[in-house]
Amino acid sequence: MIDGTQFRRTMGHFVTGVAVATSRLPDGTPIGLTCNSLASVSLDPPLVLFCVDHAATSRMAFLEAGHFALSLLAREDVEVSDRFARTVPELRFEGLAVRTEATGAPILDDALAWLDCTLWKTVEAGDHTVIIGKVETAGFREDGDPLLYFRGRYGTVAP
Ligand SMILES: Cc1cc2nc3c(=O)[nH]c(=O)nc-3n(C[C@H](O)[C@H](O)[C@H](O)COP(=O)(O)O)c2cc1C
Repeated sequence: MIDGTQFRRTMGHFVTGVAVATSRLPDGTPIGLTCNSLASVSLDPPLVLFCVDHAATSRMAFLEAGHFALSLLAREDVEVSDRFARTVPELRFEGLAVRTEATGAPILDDALAWLDCTLWKTVEAGDHTVIIGKVETAGFREDGDPLLYFRGRYGTVAP
């Protein structure tokens, strides 16, 4: 069987964007984590997925809230990506401008694009849970370059 490090390093050659997946605890407290496992699944109905590690503290909140948002990050959002990956959950939203659209999940105001979803289905897959959402509303900025992730490092591409 392939060694985990070799698998991770190999997949690191698949260039991705970077997003922050967000939802809320039952008391309304916003939660979120950085993710790059996002993929478009279906056009009709419009479905997207991301995968959350069983070890992630926010995993149950995503399952219980029944909704989530994905904010796609721009090139200037390295600090935002790092804080949603590394700092304690209580500090992740500090000083960040957020708003809500259809579901009540927090959406980062400066995101390059965003998707607001109701939970459609979850699938247990190894040490992750695949979270599939039905896109209720979505939008994007007309300007800005994306934050990319490649070989464990951030980058960007300017068209
Ligand atoms: C670029 C990048 C992509 C990531 N993608 C994912 C992902 O798709 N799923 C995941 O569960 N964690 C991912 N992580 C790790 C989480 O962001 C990190 O473990 C976070 O602290 C989890 O937060 P929580 O434990 O508060 O839920 C990623 C981290 C980085 C830096």
